[in-house]
Amino acid sequence: MKINPFANDFGAEITGVDLKDPSSEITERIYQAFLDHQMLVIRDQDLNPLEQVAFTERYGTLEWQENVKHAHPDHEKVLVLSNEIRPDGTAVGVVDAGDFWHSDSSHHEEPVKVTVLMSIRTPSQGGATDFCDMYSVYNALPETTRQKINGRFGIHHASKALNPRVKISENRPGAKEFYAMQAKERPMVMQPLVRTHDETGRQALYVSPRFTLGIQDMDDTEAQPLLDELFSYITSEDRKFHHRHYYRKGDLVLWDNRCIVHRAVGGYARDDIRRLHRTTVVGQRAFYTA
Ligand code: SIN
Repeated sequence: MKINPFANDFGAEITGVDLKDPSSEITERIYQAFLDHQMLVIRDQDLNPLEQVAFTERYGTLEWQENVKHAHPDHEKVLVLSNEIRPDGTAVGVVDAGDFWHSDSSHHEEPVKVTVLMSIRTPSQGGATDFCDMYSVYNALPETTRQKINGRFGIHHASKALNPRVKISENRPGAKEFYAMQAKERPMVMQPLVRTHDETGRQALYVSPRFTLGIQDMDDTEAQPLLDELFSYITSEDRKFHHRHYYRKGDLVLWDNRCIVHRAVGGYARDDIRRLHRTTVVGQRAFYTA
């Protein structure tokens, strides 16, 4: 197995390994590379949903997929992300998955730590995923900003209907009703604005335009401009802390949601099919230690 780090050690490509039944030594080396580089692109894999679940389970308990409608028929913990629409107008998978910057499930008390995407079909153009390194973003913040956010909590919620910074995709059947229901049923969840990684001990900024709606105990007149400042490091055109991954069929990509935000870039036609299978590992409650 070869590990080829990308620039600045953020992200790495791995070649020469078959993940169908890797040894415990390989499993551990991959996890160490994941902690060191935050996101990995493991080339030339061919895992069916059950094999993907078996691989993902090596790193912890799989998250329950709430979006049961779009779970894979062979395993309820594999979520299908795809723009494919059936002849009856229903969607095969989640059409607009991850179209705004976020960390997976930060709207849960115990958010996801590892996300695994297996590339099944790639569109003829576009379809990349963008990643942003939140350790580096935190390190780049002015000291005055760090002092304002260290030890404070962001307010997170899943519903796009509550978030003026995002849009509901026109291409996803039933999305408006889905987000309206979430807005009513889900509680707000508090997450530290700065997250201490429970394994590396490093500090990362832990906010996203998709899920962070406000700041606990801070009036919006102060909180919203502060959030805009924090989000600007993620959305900035200079892309200083970023990596964009264009998929090949057979890429298995995994990343650490404790220190990375990501988004689906789009840029492919409605009938140019993209399909990824997603599994996720639940992590522990996020915390901040000075
Ligand atoms: C996600 O946000 O989990 C999916 C990202 C993508 O489809 O590129």
